[in-house]
Amino acid sequence: MKQPRKMIFNLLASSCLLFAASGAHAAEPLALQKIMKDLGKNMQLITDGISRGDWELVEKTAPLIADHPKPPFGEKLRILGFVGTNMNKYKDYDGETHDHAQAVGKAARAKDGREVILAFEKLQTSCYNCHNEFRKPFVEHFYGKKNAVQ
Ligand code: HEC
Repeated sequence: MKQPRKMIFNLLASSCLLFAASGAHAAEPLALQKIMKDLGKNMQLITDGISRGDWELVEKTAPLIADHPKPPFGEKLRILGFVGTNMNKYKDYDGETHDHAQAVGKAARAKDGREVILAFEKLQTSCYNCHNEFRKPFVEHFYGKKNAVQ
């Protein structure tokens, strides 16, 4: 015998589950993540340029890192909300990345391989410094603990 009330209950229960499941997927990647992936790719291009002494490649890639796109305004607010009182630190790290990427570009223009490598090391360190301090709590905050990077 059919039990309409039970059916309705099941329906409600399963749609709640669906809702909960979709809630778990709600953490869409931030625009920042794509920006970061592109930074990573451009760093690889520079490494390749250094290996082959292709200073033109290095010179034209460095500004893509120095002047990387910013996340849309709404996302920026969410990020600043998360960063909170560490805002200056966070911005300083981004500023260091900018400055060192510019130095890489400048050295490449002068075809000064040694200087490119020195500046590139500083650039990598600037990426590392921000990741070391912010990335794990950032990922936990925006995507949940289970996605946290080690
Ligand atoms: C001011 C802080 C900051 C600086 C500077 C920074 N990053 Fe990031 N990076 C982050 C944050 C925060 C994440 C996590 C973003 C996310 O998962 O949405 C991240 C994640 C990444 C990722 C992983 C993306 C993925 O696939 O999940 C790569 C690659 C990356 N950054 C490359 C770089 C490189 C290369 C540089 C330097 C040229 C750099 N980042 C500089 C904050 C920074």
